[in-house]
Amino acid sequence: MTLSPIPTDTSSHANQPLRIAVLVSGSGSNLQVLIDAMQAGVLPIEIVGVISNREDAYATTRAKDAGIPVAVLSHAASGKRMGIKTFETHASAQLATWQPDLVVLAGFMRVLSGTFIDNAPAPMINLHPSLLPAYKGLDTHQRAIQSGERHHGCSIHVVTAELDAGAVLTQALTEIKPHEMADSLQARVQKLEHQLLPWTILLLAKGALSMNSVQASQQENKFLPLLPLKLHIRD
Ligand code: GRF
Repeated sequence: MTLSPIPTDTSSHANQPLRIAVLVSGSGSNLQVLIDAMQAGVLPIEIVGVISNREDAYATTRAKDAGIPVAVLSHAASGKRMGIKTFETHASAQLATWQPDLVVLAGFMRVLSGTFIDNAPAPMINLHPSLLPAYKGLDTHQRAIQSGERHHGCSIHVVTAELDAGAVLTQALTEIKPHEMADSLQARVQKLEHQLLPWTILLLAKGALSMNSVQASQQENKFLPLLPLKLHIRD
């Protein structure tokens, strides 16, 4: 897959905010962090639109309150729930209108096809609640505890056709506490997500992280640390 480069400070987009489209399905606490950082002027982004596959996602309220265009793509005109192909057709058209530089999946709970990903107008990143490549898919917190892991966390990776398998750009990790329950761990990991997402987008916007691949980034940036960059945040 060829990914278009993210504009950097040295490109013709210098001083232009990174245009971001966000795909959501739920509460949108990560979207809120991006909205707050954008409004505070600490992140050089413009959220050009939010797509939700659920009508009842609170994320849509957060976006509307911030004056961000929202597209809810949940049901077809007939009232039937949209199949993934119909969703992708509408989402592609919407993204083409917004022309983002980057598409961010933040709590987006549908699996996208390779065709959609390859034809998207911008590279895509996903926020996943585990230290990939461990615990792809769902119920990551419970599975990490049950396996007796000492560490857990979240990852931001490039979206590819294979679920949760694209190059990992950044991770934030924490220790699992003795006898910790999944809901406590989930809450702590979500706090990490709220730091990792804006931090990663800042690195991408500034050109300090390459979207092309982990390997390419190593060759281009011999003096920078190996990817994924790991943030160890203590409680
Ligand atoms: C996050 O915890 C993310 O890891 C998972 O879905 C959740 C989304 O949370 N994939 P929010 O909608 O950003 O509050």
